[in-house]
Amino acid sequence: MKQKIRDLLKSRNAILLAHNYQPGEIQDVADMTGDSLELSIKASKTDADVIVFCGVHFMAETAVILCPDKTVLLPRTDAGCPMADMITAESLKKRLSELPEMPVVTYVNSSAAVKALSTICCTSANVVKVANSIDHHEMLMTPDRNLALYAAERTDKTIHIWDGCCPYHNALKPEDVTAARNVYPDAVFMAHPECPPDVLAMADVIHSTSGMIKFASESKAESFIVGTETGLLHGLSKANPGKRFYPVSTSLECAEMKKITLNDIVRSLEHMEGKVTVPEDIRRAALSSVERMIQLA
Ligand code: 13P
Ligand code: SF4
Repeated sequence: MKQKIRDLLKSRNAILLAHNYQPGEIQDVADMTGDSLELSIKASKTDADVIVFCGVHFMAETAVILCPDKTVLLPRTDAGCPMADMITAESLKKRLSELPEMPVVTYVNSSAAVKALSTICCTSANVVKVANSIDHHEMLMTPDRNLALYAAERTDKTIHIWDGCCPYHNALKPEDVTAARNVYPDAVFMAHPECPPDVLAMADVIHSTSGMIKFASESKAESFIVGTETGLLHGLSKANPGKRFYPVSTSLECAEMKKITLNDIVRSLEHMEGKVTVPEDIRRAALSSVERMIQLA
């Protein structure tokens, strides 16, 4: 199956990008795995004709925003992000009408239509840098309240918060961390900024998904409790064969990130199925907020 995918990719002049949460067998067949920021940058630089995006809808949409001349395939178009669905262009317009005029910083986990209304995008890897780059003291940060609270603690800016969250990361409780720490007392606890503040307060380090892989590779520690979606354990173990990684909770598994199968990738490439598109006016407006972020990277 993997050889078939590699052959199809070659014949279509396509590349396969997989988010760090994808099933292990998909990560293994991909040209590149990464966090949202790395995958956006890779998409913006490729000379392939086709990008097969294994992740969720907003990630494929970001590739379309950056690469309008390429065909972007999402092998399961129903793979979405519940957090991204917690804000719409209409609900954002309504909130903005209630606030004094201010810039909007939007997490890439959002629709193209919401990005189009935003000043700049951010990811979990660069949120503090993005907030500090804003030439204005106050800003609205959408849609993840946990990411916004994390940023607010690390900047002097005043951040207005949108009340969205990742239902998986947000469900994590301090008791889960305590239970994991009791079993693995020597392990370093790494947490993703989408976790709630009481969980982040217990973390030894806070990083994006790829930030965790880098940290674990550079750390002298031998074992780690992983405070993010369980798919990351695959990349962590692969990059660090001698080290041990334990999920903080086995229920931190994003059902949307686990929808795509190897069969879906074959079908998508054979029939060019799952094309993601964005209306041109929205794409152009969204591009300026995504590009503004990439220029900071
Ligand atoms: P990263 O940008 O850290 O990969 O996170 C994306 C995501 O969806 C986290 O839930
Ligand atoms: Fe969205 Fe959470 Fe899944 Fe990431 S893990 S794609 S934020 S639902």
